[in-house]
Amino acid sequence: MSDARQTIEALLDEQRRFPPPDGLNRRAVVGSGDVYREARADVLAWWAKQAERLVWRRRWDEVLDWSRAPFARWFAGGRLNVTESCLDRHLPEHADRVAYYWEGEPGDRKIITYGSLHAEVCRLANALAALGVQKGDRVALYMGMVPELPATMLACARLGAPHVVVFGGFSAEALADRIADAGAKVLVTCDGAWRAGQVVPLKATADEALSRAPSVRHVLVVRRTGGDVPMLPGRDHYYDELVSAHPPWRPATECDAEDVLFILHTSGTTAKPKGIVHTCGGYLTYVTTTHSMVFDVHEKDDIYWCTADIGWITGHSYAVYAPLANGTTSVLYEGAPSHPDKDRVWDTVERYGITTMYTAPSEIRTCMKWGDSYLARHDLSSLRLLGTVGEPINPEAWMWYRDIVGSGRCPVVDTWWQTETGGLVIAPLPGVTTTKPGSATLPLPGVAADVVDGQGRSVAPGEGGYLVITEPWPGMLRGIDGDEERFFETYWRRFSRPEEGRWVFFSGDGAKRDSDGYFWLLGRVDDVMCVSGHRISTLEVESALVDHPAVAEAAVVGRSDPETGQAITAFVTLRSVVEADDDLAEELRAHVSRKIGAIARPSSVVFADELPKTRSGEIMRRLLRDISERRELGDLTTLADAGVVQDIVERAKAGRAATG
Ligand code: WT7
Repeated sequence: MSDARQTIEALLDEQRRFPPPDGLNRRAVVGSGDVYREARADVLAWWAKQAERLVWRRRWDEVLDWSRAPFARWFAGGRLNVTESCLDRHLPEHADRVAYYWEGEPGDRKIITYGSLHAEVCRLANALAALGVQKGDRVALYMGMVPELPATMLACARLGAPHVVVFGGFSAEALADRIADAGAKVLVTCDGAWRAGQVVPLKATADEALSRAPSVRHVLVVRRTGGDVPMLPGRDHYYDELVSAHPPWRPATECDAEDVLFILHTSGTTAKPKGIVHTCGGYLTYVTTTHSMVFDVHEKDDIYWCTADIGWITGHSYAVYAPLANGTTSVLYEGAPSHPDKDRVWDTVERYGITTMYTAPSEIRTCMKWGDSYLARHDLSSLRLLGTVGEPINPEAWMWYRDIVGSGRCPVVDTWWQTETGGLVIAPLPGVTTTKPGSATLPLPGVAADVVDGQGRSVAPGEGGYLVITEPWPGMLRGIDGDEERFFETYWRRFSRPEEGRWVFFSGDGAKRDSDGYFWLLGRVDDVMCVSGHRISTLEVESALVDHPAVAEAAVVGRSDPETGQAITAFVTLRSVVEADDDLAEELRAHVSRKIGAIARPSSVVFADELPKTRSGEIMRRLLRDISERRELGDLTTLADAGVVQDIVERAKAGRAATG
């Protein structure tokens, strides 16, 4: 972990050189903070009170069963079906309320009310059941941002069948791995998806994946782009034909609070993605509560827009489950923010009168780069609250978001969390928490987070350390699907003291606290990169690179990038017969894109004769990070051959100019 320590120091250095603007935190109101106190006084009573937000068929016997820590059971003994909280309960009074204003990239629109969504979900649940899907069976989804995506997730939930959503930008291989890992029986996909004026051929990619994922017996295909796609008789079915053949009513399958709601894969420090497991009662309680408190959505006339793709946890929690459980009206947009022009986002805000917007710092920086004139064309006065998530937000982007997008009127809520936490963990409460640009502020009521040193002791204000969560919370992951050992090793081993009954969750992030106790996120301290808010494993990219016949060895690092947060640099040595040139660099980038997906494409490829290694043969990634960041190179004494470094430094400079 000394590598991680050095990463933290480098990140702190960066922050000291670019301190946030001073005195800008006085606009938000400082409230009484009663909710924090109430939660602290009796945290289980607090969560029990929050769970009352849901519809339960049977009340729980115990709020938290922590007897098998770190395996938690929240609301143990409780019975429910999450779709009754998200849909059925709204029907008596609000069947006509809009659940989603959906907008396709080409400009086509649909209005989906709670009533029509309920009917669609029931029809589809009937169709899936007729194909043999039963409680506990896994269903994989590989779709674009169409209304059928949330409908399919909810149809699975209605049957108690865990969904496994795979982001539509992933490759055939990445999709096959995830389907196989989860053992999904059914796949729901689309013929294609619209993205930046192009059709993304989802069905073709799915077909390629299915040749390597034999567990799938049926495929449902949503017609979206209208292209001709081959349909395999007996296996492939058109979604619309199945759905229209079934009645719009189906009773919800009663589930245990701890039955699996979904599995979502995320990248870790090995090449194999982890299937993060979330369950019904605790997850829905947690996302519903945090959504209501942080986005302040008690007003039913809010129009809320979470721009995240549903293929990621942000979309699961804050574009589907939480807003529906809270009866919110959301906007769902299919495509790219630059299509047909760079004002698409602001045009959307104006046309729907969006009050609450939740997006990623990368998107904010991109819009900032495109320029204020795109905003000036539109009336953004409906906006009331602005949220961000996914990566550290630099104070400059934070200020632009607040002052230009929000005209200085709207609180900005920077929310820190992860796939593993299910929902927001560190975030301000608008009107209660004083905000500071660049800080996610404080752990939410009922959540206990800390910054600790290598020995697990809290660090002093201003010092950097590891971000940990010291008490269980209802939205916490329940495990890594099929790998208890990895679950324990990844999250719990490092800082827990089981013999003292002390369980501490390690996030993989570095952070510091200031003298007010505010948290400042510093980025990952493990071998995980964060590119445009997407989490990518260095090892996954490395194994994609060495899969190419020309590559002998590869080492991948993230370097800071003003727009995407981090960008990927790949250091590569070649097999002796191959010539290093720009064409090969391009080919390697394309190869990674094919193997994983475009989000993992390295932005630069640096060819080297040798990679710097320790005497025990380990690649010195820290050194490569320093080289790619153009930092002063530290101690080189542990290197086996110090000569290779100078050569790489030169090539990195040249390579960056050529490919950056
Ligand atoms: C990683 C989690 C859950 C949101 C979408 C990403 C980084 C997330 C922030 C923030 C600084 C952040 C962390 C975290 N991250 N939010 N507000 N400030 N960093 O979910 O794919 O599981 O990635 O995103 O590094 O560990 P994810």
